[in-house]
Amino acid sequence: MNTVTRKRLVAGNWKMNGSRNLASEFISALSAFSSETVDVVLCPPAILISSFEQSDVIVGAQDVSQFDSGAHTGDLSVSMLADFGCKFCIVGHSERREDHGESNELVAEKALKVLEAGMTPIICCGEPLSVRESGDVKDFVRKQLDAVFTHIDVSLLGNAVIAYEPIWAIGTGKTASPEEAQDVHAFIRQYIAEKDSDLSHSMLLLYGGSVKPDNAEALFAKQDIDGGLIGGASLKANDFIAICQAAN
Ligand code: PGA
Repeated sequence: MNTVTRKRLVAGNWKMNGSRNLASEFISALSAFSSETVDVVLCPPAILISSFEQSDVIVGAQDVSQFDSGAHTGDLSVSMLADFGCKFCIVGHSERREDHGESNELVAEKALKVLEAGMTPIICCGEPLSVRESGDVKDFVRKQLDAVFTHIDVSLLGNAVIAYEPIWAIGTGKTASPEEAQDVHAFIRQYIAEKDSDLSHSMLLLYGGSVKPDNAEALFAKQDIDGGLIGGASLKANDFIAICQAAN
């Protein structure tokens, strides 16, 4: 059982999916969900962020540039995201790392940009299948975290969230068992405790990777799992709300 009283967070990552119609559907569906203990955020593709502007839905972006402005065709700066009301920004999703060659160091730079803008970075980490099979999961995740904690002063990280997403579980229907997920979450919390004890108690750690309505409750019941980063199931309003309810 999770006995520590941290708030819960459920974040939907639409990835490169969705439409203005889906945004409208979610605005009305989410207006029926309210909870004192669970914060809900949706991260649609950037072009849909403004569709949520007149609603109560808390929105986040899926990525941000490490630069402030200028000659970076196709990229968006953190001030643009803030201007459109984003409160969160995912950084270092495994699909960005894979598709765009984002390194641990670049992810840390992006996370710092988001924090400096007063927004919350959802900093993703997690291992590929080969690393899981070789048993080096914690070493792999430690390197990802080292980059963040080296680049960003711990005093600035109070507003950050870490999402553990084993790559072999993303979009595959193959979830880490609650025990497997908890094991890595406990490792991450211990890692943070070595940097700053207070931060280790307060920081939200999300699990991501094939979270669905039928497995969410068991995952969220674990001591160090404070919510989820939800991909596929965040595209269906009923499923997403069921997952939010499981966090409640
Ligand atoms: P999934 O995606 O829930 O579809 O596995 C999670 C994510 O990539 O954030």
